[in-house]
Amino acid sequence: MLARRPSKTEFVESRDLRRRLLEPPHAAYYQPRPGLAGAVRLIGQARADFLSIWRESDYAAKVDEMRLFGRQMVLVNDPDAIRHVVAKRHDNYERKSPQMRRALEHLIGDGLFISDGETWRSRRPLVSDIVHKNRVPAFGDVMSRTAQETAARWDALGEGAEVNALSEMAALTAEIISRAVFGNDLGQDQANEVTEGFTAYQSMVDQINVGYFLGFDEGLPVFRTPALRRAVKRVHSVIDRVIEDHLAGEGDDRSMVDLLIRRQQRNPELGLDVVALRNEAATIFMAGHETTASTLTWAWYLLSRAPWIEARVHAEIAEVCGDRPPALADVPKLELCRAVIEETLRLYPPVPILARQAKAADRIGEVEVEKGALVLIVPWLLHRSPSLHKDPHLFRPRRFMGDARPAPYTYIPFAAGPRLCPGLQFGLNESVLCLATLAQRFRVRVAEDRRVEPVCRLTVRPKGGMPVTLHKR
Ligand code: HEM
Repeated sequence: MLARRPSKTEFVESRDLRRRLLEPPHAAYYQPRPGLAGAVRLIGQARADFLSIWRESDYAAKVDEMRLFGRQMVLVNDPDAIRHVVAKRHDNYERKSPQMRRALEHLIGDGLFISDGETWRSRRPLVSDIVHKNRVPAFGDVMSRTAQETAARWDALGEGAEVNALSEMAALTAEIISRAVFGNDLGQDQANEVTEGFTAYQSMVDQINVGYFLGFDEGLPVFRTPALRRAVKRVHSVIDRVIEDHLAGEGDDRSMVDLLIRRQQRNPELGLDVVALRNEAATIFMAGHETTASTLTWAWYLLSRAPWIEARVHAEIAEVCGDRPPALADVPKLELCRAVIEETLRLYPPVPILARQAKAADRIGEVEVEKGALVLIVPWLLHRSPSLHKDPHLFRPRRFMGDARPAPYTYIPFAAGPRLCPGLQFGLNESVLCLATLAQRFRVRVAEDRRVEPVCRLTVRPKGGMPVTLHKR
C-alpha cells in the first residue's frame, strides 16, 4: 500500500464586509507534476483529501479523461453528459465505484447505497417509500422535538459556551434519524453505540482503493483488522437487537424498522431476512445523518461569516414563527432559511463525488469509455463551474429565492436520475427546521482567526471539526 502522505493544501477565502461579499474557503487549484512521481503524489493527495486534486480546467463544464496507473477515469462535468450517465444510460452506470463498495461493504453489506442489479431494483421502491416525502410529516415531530432538546441543552451551557459545531450537529441528526429509524425507545447508550461505531469505522477505511488502480476491477477488500471488526460489531449488535424486538412485536410501531418489517411480512417474496433488514436499516441511518450534519455545520459557518444574511434569517424566523418554536408546517414559509440550506449544499455538497463503474464500453461526449472505467461526477466541481453558476465561489442564497432555480443537472447535491436520494425531502426539511429552531435562540460564532478547511472523508467536513461559541439572542 502507498503510504498516507501528509498533504499540504492551500486554501482560498476572502470577505468584503462593505460590499457584503463572502468567498468561503476552498482548496486552491491543483498544480500537477508529470511522470510516476506526479501520479504517486496525486494518489497521496487524493487519499488525504479528494477536494484538493482538481486543476482549474477541471471546473469547466466538459467531459474529460485521465489515467492513473493505466486505469481510465472519466470526469463528467457537463449537464447533458451527466444526464446521460445518471438517467439515460443508468443501466450502464448504476454500479458504485469499487472504492465505495469496498469501503462500506463490511458495515452495510448489500444495503441500498452500494447495491446494484436485481438487489437494488427490488429494494429501492421499498426503502424510498419508507423515507419518502409523504412520510416526512410523520417524522416532523421527532425533528422539532429533538432540535428543541439541543436548544435547551445549549441554553444550560451558558452564554459564550464553546462547543464543536460538527459534533453538535452530528449528535442532533444522529438522534433524529435514530429515533426515526429505530424508534423512540432506543435509549441514549444504544444510540451512542451506533453513532460511535459508525464514526470509528469511517476513520479506518481509506479514501482510495489502491488495488483498483493497480488492475483489480472489483478493487481489493478492506482488511478486517480487529478494530474494524469491533466497530462493525458495535453497530450490528444494536441494530440486530432492535430488529429482534420488532419481530417479537415489542418495538416502536411508528419507526422505519417497523415499516420495513411489516412490508416484508406483507410481501414475503421480498426475501428480507434479518441480515437484509439490518443492512437497509444501517444504510438509512448512515445516509440520513452524516449528510444533514455536514450541511448544518457549514450553514453555521456561512452565517457566522456573513452576518448581513444572518440578520435577515433572524428577521424571517421572527416574522413566520413569532416567539413559538418553529414546526414542520412553517418550513414552506421559511424561504430564506431554505435558500441558505440550498446554497450551503451548492458550496459544500455533503456527497461531493458520485463515482460509478462503467459496466460496458460506451461513449460520453467525445470520450470513448472503457469497460470497468471509473466515471466521476463531482458536484463539488459542477456547483463551482463558472459557466453554470455566476460568481461560483461566492455565498449568495438569493440564487435560490423566488423563482430562481439552477438549470437541470447543474445542481445535484442529492444526485439525480433513478438513484436520486430518496431522503431528499426528509433531509431538506430536517435541515431547515433544525437551523430555524437553533437560530431563533442562538447566534453561532466561529472565531475570526479560525482557519476552516473543507476536506472530504465520506462527506465534506471541516478538518479538525468546527469550534464555535454560542450566544443567546
Ligand atoms: C442534506 C441531506 C442529504 C444529502 C445531501 C443526501 C445526498 C445523497 C446523495 C448524493 C445520494 C446518492 C449517492 C450516489 O449516488 O453515489 C444519496 C443516496 C441515498 N440517500 Fe441521501 N442525502 C441526504 C439525506 C438523506 C436522508 C435524510 C436519508 C434517509 C432518511 C437519505 C437516504 C439515502 C439513501 C437510502 C440513499 C441510497 C439511494 C440509492 O442508492 O438508491 N439521505 N443521498
